[in-house]
Amino acid sequence: MTPPPCGVRLAGTGSKVPDRVLSNHDLEKILDTSDEWIVQRTGIRERRICDPETEGTFTLGRDALTAALADAGMVGSDLDLIVCGTCTGEMACPSVSCRIAAAVEATPAAAFDVTAACCGFVYSINIAESLIRSGRFRSVGVIGVDAMSSIIDYDDRSVSILFGDAAGAAVLVRDDDPGRGCIYQRMHADGSGWESLYIPRREREVPEHDRDNPIRLGHLRMNGREVFRFAVTRFRETVEDALAGTGLSVDDVSLFVCHQSNERIIAAAREKIGIPEEKMPVNIDRFGNSSAGSVGLLFDQLRKSGRCREGEIVCLVAFGGGMTWASSVWRI
Ligand code: COA
Repeated sequence: MTPPPCGVRLAGTGSKVPDRVLSNHDLEKILDTSDEWIVQRTGIRERRICDPETEGTFTLGRDALTAALADAGMVGSDLDLIVCGTCTGEMACPSVSCRIAAAVEATPAAAFDVTAACCGFVYSINIAESLIRSGRFRSVGVIGVDAMSSIIDYDDRSVSILFGDAAGAAVLVRDDDPGRGCIYQRMHADGSGWESLYIPRREREVPEHDRDNPIRLGHLRMNGREVFRFAVTRFRETVEDALAGTGLSVDDVSLFVCHQSNERIIAAAREKIGIPEEKMPVNIDRFGNSSAGSVGLLFDQLRKSGRCREGEIVCLVAFGGGMTWASSVWRI
């Protein structure tokens, strides 16, 4: 039997960052870099990193979802699915989402992880929204989380200056109004560019061009210039596609909540499309690039500060390793 059409309500959001701050000045002490260089090239002043003894992807994700459930006035057992976007899961098995499901007492809710690097939160919220609309699920916990500090080589100044740790979460529930929820979404990938951003587990996975460079297996490798080129173009195209696909103008959209990769990448797209600065807020100065954590973290901070109200249109956009890119336009 075909289920009746439904919409999706964003019932709550939450986020979590570690207390430990790693500032540019801290990095100056361990690397050949400077606060001035980092701020000019990226807009980043500090980032949060986990205490490896007590924190990680699981604890950040768990705490963000717990906060989102509290915000929604719900408990874990109200959920029938948990989807977690991450590329820094502690173990290949079990998934981070299975452990989080048990920790928030959502058992026997289904749980799975989505590996889409910095697109983790946007991919996950799109999948979750679609599953609710299909009629198969009623209440879904969505998490985007990465403990990037667990895969960063702090001797490599090209990556260590960029990344931080964070988690963002949302609770989505079925709604009787089909006009509510995600009104447009796109998810794309181009695996031919994977060598620009990768985490090798074995020597044989290291591409030819990187063989002569010092490699620490299990740590992130990045060709910054290539990623920059990809991001500037894809980011602008993804926002333009979301506007064209919905028939909305920049004026109709209250907020563009974008992956915090580099302030220059965000500013380039914003200026080219003609989006006012206040509609595309940034928090990269304080949290760096937290990969799958970034969009959910910023979204929660904006919601909690009253910047995103019921009935408004919000456009989430991300791009990252894979290479991947995605959008999700919501009538909140
Ligand atoms: N501190 C000081 N100097 C640094 C440095 C650092 N942390 N990192 C690199 N440099 C040096 C380089 O060695 C190079 O020196 P040279 O000219 O003597 O060879 C110079 O600065 C320029 O390096 P380059 O890599 O061309 O810098 P850039 O302007 O491209 O900035 C990034 C580097 C990483 C900030 C930039 O490429 C970037 O942000 N890329 C996108 C990364 C991203 O968003 N990743 C996540 C995607 S989701």
